[in-house]
Amino acid sequence: MPSYAQLDGVGRFALAASGRLSHRTRLRMTRKAAENRLLKACSVISLVLGTLDMNASETNPPALKLLASQRPLVIAHRGYSQFAPENTLPSFKMAMAAGADMVELDYYPTLDGKLIVIHDHYLDRTTDATNHWAETNINVEAKTAAELQSLDAGSWFDRKYAGTHIPLLAEALDTIQAGSVTLIERKGGAPADCLKLLREKGLINRVIVQSFDWEYIRAFHEQEPEQVLGALGPPERLAGGEKAPKTPKELTAAWLDELQKTGAQVAVWSDRVSADAVRLAHQRGLKVWVYTINDPDLANNLLDMGVDGLITNNTSLIWRTIALRARKAP
Ligand code: G3P
Ligand code: CA
Repeated sequence: MPSYAQLDGVGRFALAASGRLSHRTRLRMTRKAAENRLLKACSVISLVLGTLDMNASETNPPALKLLASQRPLVIAHRGYSQFAPENTLPSFKMAMAAGADMVELDYYPTLDGKLIVIHDHYLDRTTDATNHWAETNINVEAKTAAELQSLDAGSWFDRKYAGTHIPLLAEALDTIQAGSVTLIERKGGAPADCLKLLREKGLINRVIVQSFDWEYIRAFHEQEPEQVLGALGPPERLAGGEKAPKTPKELTAAWLDELQKTGAQVAVWSDRVSADAVRLAHQRGLKVWVYTINDPDLANNLLDMGVDGLITNNTSLIWRTIALRARKAP
């Protein structure tokens, strides 16, 4: 007959049920059962604590932390685009090395439904597409991701960046989110495409999304009300879908009324803002970020008005400008 140690679970149960166990074996079994119960209790506790911890970090994800910042944010426009080819991985990495709070980029959908990072609708300015296909005015949305990624997006800026490719939005997010927060600007495509990618990557409120198309922002907000959004202005299209009026270019109470229809929490405006407009926005609980600021005097004027963020091609210059303001402080 096999010993108790040689039996499997069913055998041990049968033996215990037959009542033919020694006192020592029964004691061992009781101790083992108590240990198992303790182990189970510990794993339940750690699961609960883990969930509580996850929930605690989710109550303050990066996008909300940035919104709550008490100091102006420094946002790298298309990466560190003064010193590296805009909207490429080298540009994003340089911006991160310079300590950008956020790295801004632009995306379009490709012919085969991927999202790709580029500012212009035409490929001519920032790639070698014209040489490659012996054409001009080549529309980014008319090419597949593979075709677009075969282009050189670095040489136009400097020969030392030759061979740099146009990143997919997914690649750019992997790079930027490793050490900063992406400010994603939608240039083309539906909110659902971007949302799908953000959900797959677990990036809701780990990035901020913005657009000049306020109907896109409104629809995005409807589909994912948690996601922090920026409304770029002056807009191209209003929250109702109609074409926006061409004027005024300045941030006004009327624009803020329109902007609030989108669900955006940030007015991302050109430098045509005033202290009054910033105050009005703040009264409504909105933040104001201003683009594209590469001049220290302009940056200082805007910071005096109380703007909450500066979007710049030169991250270090804006950090330096902010640091030097400490000299003026009483
Ligand atoms: O983030 C603001 C800025 O990027 C908007 O202008 O034309 O550079 O995309 P643009
Ligand atoms: Ca942009």
